[in-house]
Amino acid sequence: FDSLKLGSVFIAREIAAQIRQKQAEGKHCVLGLATGSSPKTIYAELVRLHREEGLSFANVITFNLDEYFPIDNDALQSYNRYMREQLFNHVDIDPVNIHIPNGEWPKDAIKKFCAEYDNLIEQAGGIDVQILGIGNNGHIGFNEPGSSRFSRTRLITLDNSTRIANAYEFTNISQVPRLAVTMGIDTIMKARKIYLMAWGPMKAPVIQKAVEEHVTEQIPASILQQHNDTVFVLDQMAAAELT
Ligand code: F6R
Repeated sequence: FDSLKLGSVFIAREIAAQIRQKQAEGKHCVLGLATGSSPKTIYAELVRLHREEGLSFANVITFNLDEYFPIDNDALQSYNRYMREQLFNHVDIDPVNIHIPNGEWPKDAIKKFCAEYDNLIEQAGGIDVQILGIGNNGHIGFNEPGSSRFSRTRLITLDNSTRIANAYEFTNISQVPRLAVTMGIDTIMKARKIYLMAWGPMKAPVIQKAVEEHVTEQIPASILQQHNDTVFVLDQMAAAELT
């Protein structure tokens, strides 16, 4: 796409079409959602579609990819707060249908909460549409390089490069949590349709590796080459190193 805006509107319309189709069938639509800077324009467009074009989220169930750990749900950098501010406070989604890994989960019971998260996704019938950003190191969700193809929702240690990339959200790098809860690669790979978005020149090298080089757990996004319905949605700058 020529711009982040056009690519984001494309993804928002694909999501809206899926929500409407499921509505017509009397079914739930299960969305896998990302945070960070990349999807903000998608959420703005979904809110616009709700306000101006009657798109209802009444049949939507959501599962977010990840959250810092530990973090208060109301902290400025919390992905729980981000989702309320960017999307959930502005649409008619039923709060019981919203699922986000929680930075307030007790650490000694974290395995149980992570396993429950995967169970809830399965009970919802799996993810219909998953949206993903990509880290400069190739991470999807917070599945850092080396994450197993078979990983599930779990606590993970953030790479230093991720903490540096995300330091702008915090007052300084020492404030960036060292841990996060993330959906696993296996969980993501089970989604029926995946859109990975990347905007801007910083993402060009990792997009080239993920799309054109061999599949490796060192570039987690490259594993998407083995998924049968994934679309990379890029602006010109993020696509610049593709041959
Ligand atoms: C966020 C997430 C991460 C980001 C990635 C890119 O929920 O899962 O994988 O998508 O770190 O972040 P931005 O969009 O800020 O460049």
